[in-house]
Amino acid sequence: MKFTLSHQDSKSKARAGLVKTDHGEIETPIFMPVGTAGSVKAVHQRELLYDVKAEIILGNTYHLYLRPGLGILEKAGGLHKFNGWSKPILTDSGGYQVFSLSGTRKIKEDGVMFKSHIDGSKHHFTPENVMDIQRTIGADIIMAFDECTPYPCEYGYARNSMEMTHRWLKRCIERFDATEGKYGYSQTLFPIVQGSVYKDLRQKSAEFIANTHQEGNAIGGLSVGEPAEMMYEMTELVTDILPTDKPRYLMGVGTPANILECIALGVDMFDCVMPTRNARNGMLFTSEGIINIRNEKWKDDFSPIDSAIGGHVSTFYSKAYLRHLVISKEILAAQIASIHNLSFYLWLVKQAREHILAGDFAVWKDQMVKKVSTRL
Ligand code: GUN
Repeated sequence: MKFTLSHQDSKSKARAGLVKTDHGEIETPIFMPVGTAGSVKAVHQRELLYDVKAEIILGNTYHLYLRPGLGILEKAGGLHKFNGWSKPILTDSGGYQVFSLSGTRKIKEDGVMFKSHIDGSKHHFTPENVMDIQRTIGADIIMAFDECTPYPCEYGYARNSMEMTHRWLKRCIERFDATEGKYGYSQTLFPIVQGSVYKDLRQKSAEFIANTHQEGNAIGGLSVGEPAEMMYEMTELVTDILPTDKPRYLMGVGTPANILECIALGVDMFDCVMPTRNARNGMLFTSEGIINIRNEKWKDDFSPIDSAIGGHVSTFYSKAYLRHLVISKEILAAQIASIHNLSFYLWLVKQAREHILAGDFAVWKDQMVKKVSTRL
């Protein structure tokens, strides 16, 4: 993987760049649709490519390891071959899902024992086997095994957890460096900054992570319930320390406004379930603001879902028709709403990139944050 910084905004910390992987290039800033179990829920690969214009998607180690399992993934020749997505893929390490999904889990220095949320079976994740599992899944970018601390989190717990995440990172790097990709293309490991909402811990963690000299870096443990201002403060503190010549990935963020604000703080990559999960509940993000499509007011609004962002689905279907599908519990509702929301997120980051390159990002961002946060 190679990252080239194309432009640095002069009035904010926003950047435009290019990530090159063996499965193609990604223009940053970028939003990565979440495809937890190897599928972006309710969206075909063809639609992801041509309607949403996704450049990279996410998969989850925790889910893919439990189902379909490593045997099938290896037999398929890796996740790209299995799901038919030939552009880049990033897998999260399980360091978040193991804590949020599996009911019972025991965290020890060696790793985490957990019970599957599917059948209750017992499993053990360690920094070493999580590297091996992600080698087998075959994503282009793989994540270090970490503990994502909850919010609120006591200082002592956050410090001990961060220190363990750092020790785990050393073991991840050792295993990653001692192995290679199984399918003939290269993989890149991103370490993850932790430290909860404590400035000194965030600083320590960012310095530690920067000193591991990996090809890209991630910021974890945010957007877990803390106030947005706190998330911005921690993000800025960390981006000020992480190297400028490597991409920065803010994990699990966020709303359209969160993404714009964090682009302004120097973040290059984002992922979040929000556009797809909220779509399935009838919440639409548009260039004019947020819509609850179930509301009565849309029942005879025959205007397109969002004509400003282009894209077949957002311009072809009307709000009234989508509302009818949602109310009628038609499967097509989830498809249209998911494709629209993702198209909007990809449109938004592309606009951000264009404004960074044009030199008017900061002014555009302030106007856009207001617009996209409006409830229509
Ligand atoms: N997704 C959102 N936050 C996190 C985090 O802190 N760690 C990992 N591994 N994944 C995340």
